[in-house]
Amino acid sequence: MNFELKNFVPSNVSIEKCDVSLVLVTNTFQAGKDALSVLIAKAIKSGDLKAKAGQILDIYRPLGFCATHVVLVQVADGTPADMRKGLSAAMVLVKAFKARQMTVSFLQQPTAQGLRVAITTLADASYVYTTTKSDQEGHSLEAVAIAVPDEQALGAIFARAVAAVNGIELAKEWSNRPANYATPTHLAGVAKALAKFSRIKVEVLGHKDVVKLGMGAFLAVAKGSDEPLRFIVLHYHGAAKSDAPVVLVGKGITFDSGGISIKPAAEMDEMKYDMCGAASVLGVFRALAELQPDINVVGLIASCENLPSNCALKPGDVVTSMSGQTIEVLNTDAEGRLVLCDALTYAERFKPKAVLDIATLTGACVVALGGVRSGFFTDDAGVSAALLAAGESSQDLCWQMPLDEDYAEGLKTSFADVANVAGRAGGAVTAAKFLQRFTGKYRWAHLDIAGTAWKSGAAKGATGRPVGLLLDYLLDHDPAGPSA
Ligand code: BES
Ligand code: MN
Ligand code: ZN
Repeated sequence: MNFELKNFVPSNVSIEKCDVSLVLVTNTFQAGKDALSVLIAKAIKSGDLKAKAGQILDIYRPLGFCATHVVLVQVADGTPADMRKGLSAAMVLVKAFKARQMTVSFLQQPTAQGLRVAITTLADASYVYTTTKSDQEGHSLEAVAIAVPDEQALGAIFARAVAAVNGIELAKEWSNRPANYATPTHLAGVAKALAKFSRIKVEVLGHKDVVKLGMGAFLAVAKGSDEPLRFIVLHYHGAAKSDAPVVLVGKGITFDSGGISIKPAAEMDEMKYDMCGAASVLGVFRALAELQPDINVVGLIASCENLPSNCALKPGDVVTSMSGQTIEVLNTDAEGRLVLCDALTYAERFKPKAVLDIATLTGACVVALGGVRSGFFTDDAGVSAALLAAGESSQDLCWQMPLDEDYAEGLKTSFADVANVAGRAGGAVTAAKFLQRFTGKYRWAHLDIAGTAWKSGAAKGATGRPVGLLLDYLLDHDPAGPSA
């Protein structure tokens, strides 16, 4: 879908030819003399457009207007929540109309956040998954023009929002694809395709390379499946070589059956989403490709399947990680931390200014925070503030969780340096404590996106989170600054 930003001129709305003209009405609406204002004032006065966010009024071929539908959309106070309510309600109609061209008019200049939420909501609502359906009919919307009173003031924000949306869409699409259509090799292919953009380089490591690196923990998970593993390294070079990069590490388990510690059958299909962390890293690179900012970023993706087989890792096995630490694998379903710990050790070579890992790591995090906020863990106050701020500005929210040393008690074992699981209590935290052992050489945060990366139930589907959050972290809120 193509977004375009242009100047809003009230008198133009009536002569604009398009299938649908969405007009966003706020509580502070003041009628002018133009045809549109008069129409809105009447709708409000008659009570046909109530002052509650999400109320919509569809007017078919209003006299004097060229649009087939003029849809008044109530966004009340214009808060992110109001904007989402209004636009999602409107998009249900737009979908039914099978509109191709749409104009969305802001009568008053939106805030940066208002514009971003609008673009994100529109893109989100128009995404249709078709890859493995015989009916390939996707969304009909081809072009969306966003009209604001002062286009120039919002140019940069608009570009950011559109790039974010393209990244989010890439993450969503690859997350939604089933495990037999989204193998580690496929993900490596997506990364390689990104290398066609300027400033992006990609390396893909296979089994032999990973053996050479001594990634014993990653290898231990991968060996239960015939599907070959991939370790993907993406580079975005927008600043001087001497500029330390931020490293993003994505968990790329393309299917998590639990391994020998096998999961129950119910909802196991959702474990195709266990590569959403990896998908978010790919999504961020897609956005960077478009925005070409002057920063350095490295993306690392450790990707394999977690399956039971005669070759699979067994409970009680001890494996040696790339860091040299030995790990007793008490539960083969705690595989994410095993693939991540080796990627975190690999990250050291970039002398990064910060490392963020992104993983659908624990069911416990779903219990703790649900689907609203991603959990993050860090002992760095700067990184913490930066993540919270990036969450707010992108409206891709997160929340800090603890890392007290006492939480690591349960990871002690007599048979290795560390066990890969502790008891049931505080499962999201003990997982983070495990990862922390591998991050001593740099500032680090772990994002647990198990609750936020996809929706279950009737609306099952990937969300593309936390692409928006990561992008804002990199572009605005990196505590070390863009060229520190
Ligand atoms: N990929 C899962 C985490 C997960 C489970 C995410 C359900 C979203 C929904 C992860 O690999 C896992 O299986 N974690 C275990 C850890 C346990 C064995 C300590 C879990 O959360 O049950
Ligand atoms: Mn698991
Ligand atoms: Zn997993």
